[in-house]
Amino acid sequence: MTQAAGGEAFPGRFPTTRLRRTRRHPWLRSLVTETRLSVENLIWPLFVHDLPEAEAVPAMPGVSRLSIEGVVAAVGEAVSLGIPAIALFPVIDPSLKTDDGAHAVDPDNLVCRCVRAIRAAHGDAIGIICDVALDPYTSHGHDGLLEDGQILNDATVEVLARQAVVLAEAGCPVVAPSDMMDGRVGAIRAALDTHGHESVAILSYAAKFASAFYGPFRSAVGSAANLGTGDKKTYQMHPANSDEGLREVALDIAEGADMVMVKPAMTALDMIHRVKSGFGMPTFAYQVSGEYAMIHAAAAAGMLDLEAAMLESLLCIRRAGADAVLTYFAPVVARSL
Ligand code: PBG
Repeated sequence: MTQAAGGEAFPGRFPTTRLRRTRRHPWLRSLVTETRLSVENLIWPLFVHDLPEAEAVPAMPGVSRLSIEGVVAAVGEAVSLGIPAIALFPVIDPSLKTDDGAHAVDPDNLVCRCVRAIRAAHGDAIGIICDVALDPYTSHGHDGLLEDGQILNDATVEVLARQAVVLAEAGCPVVAPSDMMDGRVGAIRAALDTHGHESVAILSYAAKFASAFYGPFRSAVGSAANLGTGDKKTYQMHPANSDEGLREVALDIAEGADMVMVKPAMTALDMIHRVKSGFGMPTFAYQVSGEYAMIHAAAAAGMLDLEAAMLESLLCIRRAGADAVLTYFAPVVARSL
């Protein structure tokens, strides 16, 4: 018996509170579990390219760029696994990339054809989320229009609003501006409403950091080469800031965002928590390509258990406050749960 607090007041019963009691049995651990990870919380990002064969993404084990038919099949798999939504990212042929990213607003571009194909095959059985941003389409790899080394805000927003309408017209039920221009959510909402798409929802990448963890994604969609040594620090947020993230979220909500996103996830768990507790909005988090690659690389090197690390990472993103998580692990998690 030690002399620590409680020892004298309750001799022989120290310590009164033993938190280990509720950890003793698997069934009790289950009963006191505060957060759960379910397939219903997952969104599966998919890469589509305009080629007949699938092509592996080297930095992302288990991830491939798929043909439209391949995406349609993957979506069928997602439906049968109970995954509620996919997020679609196009790999645009370099010959279609221009300074102004004009192909983004072509109703017959790859992502629009893919959305139509998914809807034709699977109807409304699954959600489709499409990025609104110009980086797959610009020859310089930026999310906006570039002039004299500057990313133009308001001119970009006009194009993004048209891009959102084109996606809605193809049958996309959720558009997700990932560009971080100021005022884009309001402009997209207005454009969608004007064109009769008032039911199309906006998932805004609201607190999106300029992160080193997007590297594998940029290789996957082929924008890395276009961006070269450039960076996105004049529009994506400095990883040092989270008050600023709250201001971003507040603005996006005021402009009409239906759901807000924090990205990356594991380097921004505090941000996820502040957003969820501060606004009570549907709050999504994106476990980005670099997070996925990092866990895979450590597991491949024998440093981590892949399945355990994968499940823990996602559970903790949920615990921080995320309602849903975009993750490349989605089908693997769905099978493991
Ligand atoms: C493009 C976009 C990016 C991601 C999603 N949409 C890359 C970027 O902003 O440079 C990153 C996703 C990931 O890393 O998995 N606007």
